[in-house]
Amino acid sequence: MAREKTLILIKPDATIRKLTGLIIDRLENSGFEMVAAKLIKVTDDLARKHYDSLKNQPFFENLIKYIKGELHGIKNNKILALVYSGENAISEIRRLVGSTNPEEADPSTIRGSFGRITTKGLFENVIHASANKEDAEREIRLWFKEDEIIE
Ligand code: PPS
Repeated sequence: MAREKTLILIKPDATIRKLTGLIIDRLENSGFEMVAAKLIKVTDDLARKHYDSLKNQPFFENLIKYIKGELHGIKNNKILALVYSGENAISEIRRLVGSTNPEEADPSTIRGSFGRITTKGLFENVIHASANKEDAEREIRLWFKEDEIIE
């Protein structure tokens, strides 16, 4: 088994609903190790770089507004970005996070417990977790400097 690092973003819907502590509790109880954490004001540039591979999706502009807090009317939006490390952390944490669509997510998962779909059809799925090794490496480089990761 390989030791891996994965990027987690606790999204604006989670922060305004005061779910941050509950989500971190789930992550900590998974046995993986937090190796980086910081609050970040998400600029338009950072949001677009993060979701670059989805730029042709019909929901792309809403995804950008969502991560910047604009969809929830948050003025000083902050994202809590985290890096977790451990054996097979990428796939294991994705399992813990649950399906992208919160209605389809198993109720025991983070998205199943806390996510919802708005009346406008937007997935409020409270958390992002890297999908695979390539994304994890790119995303961690995008959100963190090397010396901010403590292993
Ligand atoms: S992944 O991570 O590539 O396996 O997941 P994927 O299902 O392809 O989704 C990628 C991101 O797009 C968001 N998404 C949506 N947002 C709004 N509406 C719809 N229909 C929708 N479909 C996918 C999804 O939440 C993923 O973003 P993150 O930040 O990872 O949650």
